[in-house]
Amino acid sequence: MNSPAESTSRIPDFYDLSIEVRHQRLRELGVLSDEQLSALANGGIQAEAADHMVENAIGVHSLPLGLGLNFVVNGREVLVPMAVEEPSVVAGASFMAKLARAAGGFRASTDAPLMIGQMQLLDVKDLDAAAAALAAATPELLAEAAQIDPVLLKLGGGPRELVVRRIDDSPIGPFLVLHLIYDVRDAMGANAINTACERLAPRIEALTGGRVHLRILSNLADRRLARAECTIKLSELAFGNFSAEQVRDGIVEAWAFAAADPYRAATHNKGIMNGIDAVVIATGNDWRAVEAGAHAYAARSGRYTSLSTWGVSSEGDLVGSLELPMAVGIVGGATKVHPTAQAALKLMGVTTAAQLAEIITAVGLAQNLAALRALATEGIQRGHMSLHARQVAIAAGAQGEQVEKLAAQLVAEKTVRVDRAEQLLKEWSQ
Ligand code: MEV
Repeated sequence: MNSPAESTSRIPDFYDLSIEVRHQRLRELGVLSDEQLSALANGGIQAEAADHMVENAIGVHSLPLGLGLNFVVNGREVLVPMAVEEPSVVAGASFMAKLARAAGGFRASTDAPLMIGQMQLLDVKDLDAAAAALAAATPELLAEAAQIDPVLLKLGGGPRELVVRRIDDSPIGPFLVLHLIYDVRDAMGANAINTACERLAPRIEALTGGRVHLRILSNLADRRLARAECTIKLSELAFGNFSAEQVRDGIVEAWAFAAADPYRAATHNKGIMNGIDAVVIATGNDWRAVEAGAHAYAARSGRYTSLSTWGVSSEGDLVGSLELPMAVGIVGGATKVHPTAQAALKLMGVTTAAQLAEIITAVGLAQNLAALRALATEGIQRGHMSLHARQVAIAAGAQGEQVEKLAAQLVAEKTVRVDRAEQLLKEWSQ
C-alpha cells in the first residue's frame, strides 16, 4: 500500500463521481484498505460498540463524511476527512486549498503538547506562605507526578512545570490555583492530566494546610497552540465580475469587521470552527474541548475578537494566519476504537498529534477564507443554495434521480422551500 505522502490531494472531478467510484479512486491511490473503506461506507461504529462508549446507548448517530481536497500542509499533500452536516463546508475548504496551492499551500506549526491541569487550593490561612512552600517543593512534586504515568514518561512526556497563581477577586474571596504543566505527547491528554492532579492533591494539602477542591484540566490549552498561514496570490483571486484587488481588499475589510466587533467575531470564528470541528470530529477527538479553547483564546485580551488575521503582502498578495489552542490526540479515546476515526487518520497519513493539529488549523484557515471570499463578493447564499436545495428535495420525499431534478428546479425558481418542493413533486406525479 502506498504511503499517502506519495499520493496527491488533487483528485480531478471527484465532486461528480458516485460514492462507489470515489472509493475506487481512494483504493487506486492505495490510501485505504478495503476494510477501512467499508468502515466509511457503514458509518464506523455499530450499536454494540456504542454500548461500550456511553451509558444507556440506544443506537448511533451518523454525520456525512466528505473529503477535503487540494490541501498541501508543510509541503505534504493531504487528503482531509471532514465530518459535517452543513452544505458548502467541504467544497469551500477544498476550493480555498486549491487557491493556496499556487503559493505552496499552508505553513503550519505547533507548540509542544503541553496541557494545563488546575488545582484550586482553598482554606489556606496565609496565601503567600503557601505559595512559597509550593515553590520550594516544586521539584519534589514534579518528581512525584512523573511516577504516575510510566508509559508517558517512557515516550518522553510527563510533568514539566508547576505554576502558582493567586486569584484575588472571586465571589468567595482570594485563593491559590496551581497549574500543573504536563507534556502529553500524542494524546489529547485529559486523562493523564486529570489523574496527575488528583494524585498530587493530598501532598499539596499536606504542604500548605489547605484543601484542594477542583482538580481538572483547563480547556484554555494556551501552552499547546497551533498556527497556520497561507499566501493567496493576487492572480488567483479574480472571479466573475470581481477583480483580484476587489476580492483581496474585500476579504481584508471583512476580517477588520471581525477584529473590531465581537458580534461579527463570533460568526467569523464559527466559520473557522466549521472546518476545524469537521476534522476534529472525523478523527474521534473531543470537539467541545477544541471549541471551548478556541473561544476562550479569542477573548484572551479581555475583548472577544477574530482568531485569524488577513492582510496584504509587500507583493500585493493576500496573506492569512490563524492561531488557537489545539488539544487533539491520535492515541486513546475514540480515536482508537472508532473505525472511521482510524480511517480518517490513515487518510491524512498523520503519525503524530502535532501533524494532526497542524492540518486541522490549516483547514480552519481555508474555511475562514472560503466564508470571507463569499461574503465579500457574491454573498453566502448562492453557493449554499444548490446543496441546500438537494436537502430540501430529499425532505420533500424526492428519491433517486428526482433529487437532482427537483433541486435544480427549486434553485431556478429561487424558491428553495419544502412546501414548493412537495407541490412540484405532486405535480410531476400526476
Ligand atoms: C456559516 O456556517 C459560517 C459563516 O457564517 C461564517 C462567516 O460568516 O464568516 C458563513
